[in-house]
Amino acid sequence: TKRKPIVIANWKLNGGLELICTSVASFIGKHFEADIAICPPYIYMRDMLTFLQHSEISIGSQNVSKFKSGAYTGETSAQMLKEAGCKLCLIGHSERRSMFKENNLSCQIKIGNALNHGLMPILCVGENKEEHDAKITKDVIFRQVTECLEGVELDGRKICIAYEPIWAIGTGASATPEIAQDVHSFIRQELIKLYGEETANSIRLLYGGSVTKDNAKDLLAKEDVDGLLVGGASLDPGHFLAICQHA
Ligand code: G3H
Repeated sequence: TKRKPIVIANWKLNGGLELICTSVASFIGKHFEADIAICPPYIYMRDMLTFLQHSEISIGSQNVSKFKSGAYTGETSAQMLKEAGCKLCLIGHSERRSMFKENNLSCQIKIGNALNHGLMPILCVGENKEEHDAKITKDVIFRQVTECLEGVELDGRKICIAYEPIWAIGTGASATPEIAQDVHSFIRQELIKLYGEETANSIRLLYGGSVTKDNAKDLLAKEDVDGLLVGGASLDPGHFLAICQHA
């Protein structure tokens, strides 16, 4: 594939000083063929940035505020994340959509904020079990992609899209490489309509949902699977390292 692979760890609300230390110890001094990023809880970002400053690992955030500044208790802006040294941010993860009322419009605003401050947005999309069973995956993905990207100008600025079928997240039941490829190629076609071939072909599409060191290679072998978004397996540094080394 023409695109550089990217592997991202999403620690969610997990981790602590011990995981930081073991992760840093496994990643420091290693060379990777892929771009690698870890998204720890906000509170650990600065420590990790300091520890990993001479490594090839980037730090990302799991979320970003849709607001720029003001009376928004508990929020963190794109500008703050950029200033802290963050390189990318997850936007619209299904857990944020289902538990924290995020929707396509808030994702669209967050993508704009991230791009305006030089953070690479990783837009997350994916259908739930009912939608999957009803075979309306592509309708759901189409809506998420087009609504989240409405009015978003890329003009050379970078974005990634992560396809995370909700039925595969944390269940141990990963989508097959064939399913992932089918949906990724559908997303690619839609991106071509929105941004033209050249831009669309440069956008990396990640798969997420029960990725392990055992299925990473077969998923990444697919033409339009340009990276992986890893939850549970990223909490074991040895396991996550093995996934990164497949990419
Ligand atoms: O962001 C990561 C995804 O939600 C996948 O989580 O690897 O634990 O299934 P998982």
